This record gives sequence, C-alpha cells and structure tokens, in this order.
Amino acid sequence: MNAPTARERLVVALDLPDLDEAVRLAGRLAGHVGWFKVGLELFGAWGPEAVHRIGEHGSVFLDLKLHDIPTTVERAAARLSALGAGLLTVHAGGGPAMLRAAVQGFASGRVLAVSVLTSLSDEELVLLGEERAAERVVRLARVAVEAGVPGLVCAPPDLVRVRTAIGPDPLVVTPGVRPAGSTPDDHARVATPGGALEEGADLLVVGRPIVRADDPVAAADGVVAQIAAAEPA
Ligand code: C5P
Repeated sequence: MNAPTARERLVVALDLPDLDEAVRLAGRLAGHVGWFKVGLELFGAWGPEAVHRIGEHGSVFLDLKLHDIPTTVERAAARLSALGAGLLTVHAGGGPAMLRAAVQGFASGRVLAVSVLTSLSDEELVLLGEERAAERVVRLARVAVEAGVPGLVCAPPDLVRVRTAIGPDPLVVTPGVRPAGSTPDDHARVATPGGALEEGADLLVVGRPIVRADDPVAAADGVVAQIAAAEPA
C-alpha cells in the first residue's frame, strides 16, 4: 500500500448531535481531509443514513467499538460493511476469535482494535482484575495483530511502546491530537501532529479543534500543513 498523503492522514471526528449539521460540515471539508469519523452519538440517532449521507463527501470511519460474541460481531460487521464504511473499531478485549470474526465480516474496509480506554485509571483496572494500562495496552495490541487485525487505535502516551511491539505494518490511528498551541480540551496528554507521526502514528484523529473552529476548512488545512511539514521529504 502506498503511504497516505498528508491530507489522507487526517481524520475529522464529526462529534455532533445533528446529522444535517454534520453533513454540511463534511461537505465543506470534502477534499481537505482524509476521513470522517462517525461515532455512537450520530450513529445512534441516525444509523445507516449517517454513513450514506456523510459518505457522499468522503471516506467514513465508524467508531462503534463492537464487543460481543464472535458470531454477533461478524454479522454486525458485515452489515456495517454493506454501508460502505472504510474503518470500523472493535474492542481488542473481545479476544482473538471475536477479532478474527470482525475482520471476516468487515469486507469493505479495515478493522481497528481499541485496547484500553484512556478513561480507565490504573486503580480501576486493578479493581477489574487487570494489569496496569501500560502493560495491558501492549498485550492487547499484540493479541489483535496476531489475530489478523490490520490496525489499532492508540493514544499518544502509548505510541512508541505499541509501535515497537507490533512493527511497522499495522495501521496506527491516534486520537488526542492537537495542533501546536491549541487547547487540550479534556485530554490528559495530547500530541501535536508532528509528534504523533514521529512516534509511529499513521492517521490522526482531530475533532473539536476543527469542528468548533470559526473556519473549519482553514483549521483542517492548518493541521494538514503541520502533517506535511512533519513527513519525510
Ligand atoms: O475533539 P477531539 O479531537 O478530542 O476528539 C477526539 C475523538 O477521538 C473523539 O471522537 C473521541 O471519542 C475519540 N477518542 C479520544 N480519546 C481516546 C479514544 C478516542 O478522544 N482515547
């Protein structure tokens, strides 16, 4: 696969409650960004219509974090594949059989495994009888890649360890990215586009700094310029 262009590396998280507003924004951003991420809020309210309408303006990344028995996940992934989505998230904690089933079902694109939610503290993980996040993230990344999952979602603090563990091939998608100098919002630790790419990310997810900007197209172009500046010549 050819390396993505700077524009193709940018995923905009369309975290909006209203589909018309999300479609309008996607229309403005079409051609300026690589992907539109549709999450549980939009999909929960509008379902397949959200994928169809946003998909008219670019590639759709469905961030639904599936986690169920393998048969259910395979059948759900096949239905989501039929909508034409290009990326779909599942929880790595569902185990190898569930991960293989997701890949089998999602023929239209690539499955991404999510390891540990960054909202979970080490104390909560201990309460759940699990390892600390630093170890668990790497363990789940290895399990997912060994099960044949082509990509992972990975937060900035874990990028170097995860990339070292899985090698250069799997697609690594990183949220919590902020253009240099902007507010971190509710993220405990953010990365700049250049920093995340340097530490092993392939695609970068940016939501509020673009979606809530006075000029979302200019904000997206600014992030793409920062990505381009960080890429090897
Ligand atoms: O607005 P912001 O750029 O923070 O949006 C980040 C997007 O990435 C949201 O859709 C959020 O659900 C997702 N995400 C995240 N942090 C994680 C995993 C996913 O912010 N650790």
